[in-house]
Amino acid sequence: MRISLAETSRLLNEGRVVAVPTETVYGLAASLANLSAIEQIYSLKGRPSSNPLIVHVADPAQVNEYLSQDVPDFQKLAEAFWPGPMTLVLPIDPVRIPEAVRAGLPTAAFRVPSHPLIFRLLALTGPLVMPSANLSGRPSSTCAEHVEMDFGSDFPILDGGACSCGVESTILAFDKGQWKIARQGVLSPQAFEAVLGYVPSFAEQASSKPLCPGQLFRHYSPKARLHLLDAIPKDLEGAVIGFSCREYPSSTRVIPLGPLSAPEKIAENLYAALRQLDAENISTAWVDFNFPCNGILATVAERLKRAAS
Ligand code: TXA
Ligand code: MG
Repeated sequence: MRISLAETSRLLNEGRVVAVPTETVYGLAASLANLSAIEQIYSLKGRPSSNPLIVHVADPAQVNEYLSQDVPDFQKLAEAFWPGPMTLVLPIDPVRIPEAVRAGLPTAAFRVPSHPLIFRLLALTGPLVMPSANLSGRPSSTCAEHVEMDFGSDFPILDGGACSCGVESTILAFDKGQWKIARQGVLSPQAFEAVLGYVPSFAEQASSKPLCPGQLFRHYSPKARLHLLDAIPKDLEGAVIGFSCREYPSSTRVIPLGPLSAPEKIAENLYAALRQLDAENISTAWVDFNFPCNGILATVAERLKRAAS
């Protein structure tokens, strides 16, 4: 059910959960001030309680109100990349952020999104916590129709059109004296070099205390089984997720992500393509995995690997 900005803010202030657009993917929003709405997010998504939520605010200065200590280069990162697709994990005063939001961690993740609608909404509601608006483990939603696929046509949605980025924000966490990439996203590690003076490395994931708990869970997967192929045989049959600049002569169905000359378009179309497989009841699909894994395409490759695992 598509609702207005005023109705969205009214429902959120009453303690309801509403799906809202951001420039990355749609989010399932609840007010930071309403604990029962925050708990509803976990049950609606089927999300493990050990996977914390991102706090979204309208103004970078608001983040300072929650912090327990200074973190090197935080202000510089905030000035350079907010509003935008960067999330920062920061040490917080635990009294200010409910335990349910941060899954009991002494940190919280923050983001200032840039989508004009969410920006106006945050001014009306105050801070909102939101995960991506998908059932846990499934591909994220990049338009209102995707949200309906997962939560039904009666679910309240603020429709902001298709998301311009199409994959999630890049998450940075400060660890052992350096910022690390805790989750790959829209911004590549190289994007941070000019601000930090170094390219942040990837955080180790296979530890019992990962910098980003969400990385431990299954993610982005359609019902269809995906097979990633480094080389596509000429006689490959069946459904293929591929590129519009290439031909797959024997396949029965090609879902193009876009041309390799437009990596941003490929990211924008990724989750729609994965969801399309399910919409067409396709049970197995081949993925053309022969592409240069740099910039945003490195994130696309990481999402495809997880979706196929
Ligand atoms: O682009 C995005 O980031 C989207 C839009 C809606 O803002 N949100 C999003 O949320 O991707 P979600 O819940 O799908 O992913 C949030 C990730 C999870 O992997 C979670 O573990 C991590 O953020 N996270 C949240 N709080 C954290 C914390 N305190 N420490 C480390 N990781 C945290
Ligand atoms: Mg998610």
